[in-house]
Amino acid sequence: MDERERQCRIAASRAGRRAAAAGDSTAWFDPLYRAAREADAPADIPWVDQRPNRFLMQWLDRAMPAPCRACVVGCGLGDDAEELARRGFNVTAFDISPTAIDWCRERHAATAVDYAVADFNNLPAAWRGAFDLVVEVYNVQALPLAERAISSAALSSLVARGGRLVAVCRGRSDEESDPKGPPWPFSPKEMALFATEGMTEESFEIIDDPDDEGVVRFLGVYRRVPAD
Ligand SMILES: C[S@@+](CC[C@H](N)C(=O)[O-])C[C@H]1O[C@@H](n2cnc3c(N)ncnc32)[C@H](O)[C@@H]1O
Repeated sequence: MDERERQCRIAASRAGRRAAAAGDSTAWFDPLYRAAREADAPADIPWVDQRPNRFLMQWLDRAMPAPCRACVVGCGLGDDAEELARRGFNVTAFDISPTAIDWCRERHAATAVDYAVADFNNLPAAWRGAFDLVVEVYNVQALPLAERAISSAALSSLVARGGRLVAVCRGRSDEESDPKGPPWPFSPKEMALFATEGMTEESFEIIDDPDDEGVVRFLGVYRRVPAD
């Protein structure tokens, strides 16, 4: 990591902590995207790699889910959504940041993805139970622990009968009760929050991140019980 990247991470983390302390935990996302867009510097956004998430790609390559209705939540600059569309999925992708969504449409001008501004804590009713695959990458971990249960349940509510939610998160142990964030890593117990309301855990992996020393990733897959 170079010095600029390190400074951007520190500044973003501070902004996230300030927003959480002020009781408006999502207030820092759009200003961060706006500043990076104005500077034409997507790399100033700590989580933006400008390529699909590698753990998600590895899961897609292994699990080979058939193309279906997919939803990428907190889609950021759209690289995961575009990858799913490239693989034949019918993709809806949304983010709370209007700047991020505008930028997605500009970056992927010929896109087949349906991009939208939406808040996963206030989802359109038509989306509930509407997706066979829901993809959650690094979003709930960017919000304070106190919001974890409600956000995880909101994302699970998007999953259709027989459908799956795949979650990729930074991990911590169950013993570490007060992590410093953002990001606020998930404990294994908290990952189980995705398995509420008729969802069951299909698989749970702990991955040592080869590119980020000392960082552990969790990849959980949760399935809604199919109709009888
Ligand atoms: C850490 S970033 C991860 C972005 C993307 N998933 C990625 O991996 O590049 C968290 C994202 O979640 C979005 N977000 C945060 N709270 C949200 C909410 N309540 N509803 C929708 N999006 C939200 C932010 O705007 C941001 O794009």
